Amino acid sequence: MTAEPTTRVISANANAIAQAAHCLAAGGLVAFPTETVYGLGADATDATAIARLYAAKGRPAFNPLIAHVADSTAARALAVFDAAAERLAAAFWPGPLTLVLRKRSDCPVAELATAGLDTIAVRAPDHPIAREILRAFGKPIVAPSANRSGHVSPTTAAHVLADLRGRIDLIVDGGPTPVGVESTIVACLEGRALLLRPGGLPRADIERVLGSPLAVAPIPPGSEADVPLAPGMLASHYAPKARLRLDAANVQAGEALLAFGPMPPANAERATRVLNLSTGGDLVEAAANLFSHLRALDGAGAAVIAVMPVPHEGLGEAINDRLARAAAPRD
Ligand code: TXA
Ligand code: MG
Repeated sequence: MTAEPTTRVISANANAIAQAAHCLAAGGLVAFPTETVYGLGADATDATAIARLYAAKGRPAFNPLIAHVADSTAARALAVFDAAAERLAAAFWPGPLTLVLRKRSDCPVAELATAGLDTIAVRAPDHPIAREILRAFGKPIVAPSANRSGHVSPTTAAHVLADLRGRIDLIVDGGPTPVGVESTIVACLEGRALLLRPGGLPRADIERVLGSPLAVAPIPPGSEADVPLAPGMLASHYAPKARLRLDAANVQAGEALLAFGPMPPANAERATRVLNLSTGGDLVEAAANLFSHLRALDGAGAAVIAVMPVPHEGLGEAINDRLARAAAPRD
């Protein structure tokens, strides 16, 4: 176990911006204000930093994260804009609108941040401090709301500190956030626009720009996520082509192996390909590698991927949640 960081709170000034950018570049976790709520930022291209971010939030599942960018030019390096997305970004960015778009194949954001999905949520926030941090850092920043899992989104630095003291490196205090509720999330995929989460940008404003009513995706009953699943348009979780055989104690002929820890399973030599989530058994490293390793093994064409057991502690709970979903039968 690494020692928990001491959380520093600094008020927003030029020096704070430089410290925030420096901390992010070193793989640290930085809470900062956006116009909606405080976000907990990490380098969007650093899977290990993102794994630590999930651990700090204490979330038992990997919910995909919003990639924050300085402007729509930066967003275009991550995602494919259809006509509706172009119109909405031109009208409302920077602002409290998140667009869920098809991820570009050369998107530099870590697979873990998008939970292995082919889509990505992007937003250009409209807050001077968030904008300055994005400009100073020069890369996309993933940032969920800076609260512990199951708590409400923070609108002051004091809320962030109450939830995350000792779990993150830095809080940039920029006073209360002006909007106070999270961004509105709209998916623009396959030429259709769909409201996924109501938020700081009123739906009527969006409909005025689109010139048509916005379809609303229903939130599935019993779902713990705050965004819904739209049939045919959005996958709710990563689903490989291969079948996953979980808690594998051995390898059968023709299987690829997703290993964990230093001890190989029985008949490991039978594996057509092997990737190890973490040879040292480190769950943060395992989380950082989870989706990219699954994709690599799936892409290599194995019909079955044997997955060694992953302990249920710490990030292991979220890893096992995602493995179970990826293993679920589907049609
Ligand atoms: O105002 C906000 O949006 C704040 C500030 C910090 O920007 N952020 C925020 O992030 O509320 P978070 O992680 O608490 O909520 C983002 C929501 C999650 O419910 C997540 O499931 C959804 O966005 N989301 C992210 N990527 C998605 C995707 N590819 N498809 C569908 N939903 C996605
Ligand atoms: Mg949240």
